[in-house]
Amino acid sequence: MKITTKIAEMRKETGKIRRAKETIGFVPTMGYLHEGHLSLVRKSIEECDKTVVSIFVNPTQFAPSEDYNTYPRDTGKDIGLLSREGVALLFMPSVEEMYGRSPLTNIGVSQLSEKLEGRLRPGHFKGVCTVVCKLFNIVSPDRAYFGQKDAQQLVIIKRMVNDLNIPVEISGCPTVREKDGLAASSRNVYIPPENREKAVLLYRALSRIKMLAERDGIEDIPTLLEEGKKAIEGCPEVELQYLEIVDMEDLSALNKIEEKALVLGAVKISGVRLIDNMTISLK
Ligand code: PAJ
Repeated sequence: MKITTKIAEMRKETGKIRRAKETIGFVPTMGYLHEGHLSLVRKSIEECDKTVVSIFVNPTQFAPSEDYNTYPRDTGKDIGLLSREGVALLFMPSVEEMYGRSPLTNIGVSQLSEKLEGRLRPGHFKGVCTVVCKLFNIVSPDRAYFGQKDAQQLVIIKRMVNDLNIPVEISGCPTVREKDGLAASSRNVYIPPENREKAVLLYRALSRIKMLAERDGIEDIPTLLEEGKKAIEGCPEVELQYLEIVDMEDLSALNKIEEKALVLGAVKISGVRLIDNMTISLK
């Protein structure tokens, strides 16, 4: 596995791959890799000739009050994991390399970025879209892999690629979970052991809503949300930030589930923010 921190070198390497008529799969990450990230890497390796991974904790997607400085990092371990998987190229730029020349340009996907996560994290998706667009311009992948775990991010990236005619195919990959159902996340290490068992409550709320809709045929959204909230209520350590059922494509609020919907939630537990979601399919 070749490792580079420089944009120019990255372009040279991906240019060589393209000239050899090989396809490039790309997995952008912020590192501290877990099974969720590795599932994207494995899919890319399966489907593309060469796989490129980036590790970059992107400061522009964190608000000043958020956890940029304490975001977990372990580059040595990440390098070991990726080279064992058979990744061809790893891009690990510095903040200076990515943003050094005082950029004035941002990419924003309006409307979709203001809902759900965007309401609690204003500016977050502008940071995500800008860095992902820059990474696409540096790597020029044929396909890029994103997790369904960050469902709103996936919807927004797909929209950006479509609206800006970026020549990359976006592949969404299923959420990888720990044994009890908790979605794998780099931030899970910060859940104190005494509260670890409560972290699964969001998963339980989402599962309950999915089951009531799919198995019991409950289509009324206020009823479903009430039922979901019951799974979390009564546990003071878990602060529910939102729980919503929305349209899968445009994330708009629904009154009733017609055929398919997305249920998403966010909780805060001992200062750690966790997000998760599930799709509901009535047919
Ligand atoms: P990060 O949180 O490191 O996630 C990188 C990719 O891994 C994202 O596409 C995310 O959805 C996926 N992922 C995370 N947990 C997962 C899980 N449990 N199952 C499946 N996939 C999972 O998302 C980001 O970084 C950043 O916003 C980024 C896109 C890299 C831009 O900075």
